[in-house]
Amino acid sequence: MKVVFFSLTGNVRRFVKNLADYPSLEITQTDPFVEVNEPFVFIAPAYEKEVTEIAWDFMSTGNNASFCKGVIGSGNLNFDSLYIYTAKDLARDYEVPLLDSFEYFGTSKDIERIKEKINAIA
Ligand SMILES: Cc1cc2nc3c(=O)[nH]c(=O)nc-3n(C[C@H](O)[C@H](O)[C@H](O)COP(=O)(O)O)c2cc1C
Repeated sequence: MKVVFFSLTGNVRRFVKNLADYPSLEITQTDPFVEVNEPFVFIAPAYEKEVTEIAWDFMSTGNNASFCKGVIGSGNLNFDSLYIYTAKDLARDYEVPLLDSFEYFGTSKDIERIKEKINAIA
């Protein structure tokens, strides 16, 4: 299982370092149109739509969406009803499960729980 993500301030990048058992791919603003041809989970932080557009650019590239097994959100609970809304929107638009979420770069509990979930679908 591949782990695809983007990260603007480094939290998700830091989280993904704990998932070293899985190959990862970081999507960047310069070139989000990367084609993957293997199953992956997408980890997305929440921001305003102008900056998260790259997630949709990536998902709509080639057959990427069909390989997506689920989305995991990173966010901040202070955003209340907007908590992890980017991941929620991705899951809705591409009809894939919202697997889990964590705040900032995740706690050790978040890491263990999410590893188990990825293992379960891998
Ligand atoms: C300008 C800005 C807007 C944000 N908007 C949201 C939001 O709407 N919902 C949410 O849950 N978190 C929001 N966050 C929190 C980030 O999603 C969270 O800190 C995340 O861990 C950032 O991941 P990154 O460092 O990998 O980019 C926002 C943070 C910033 C700086």
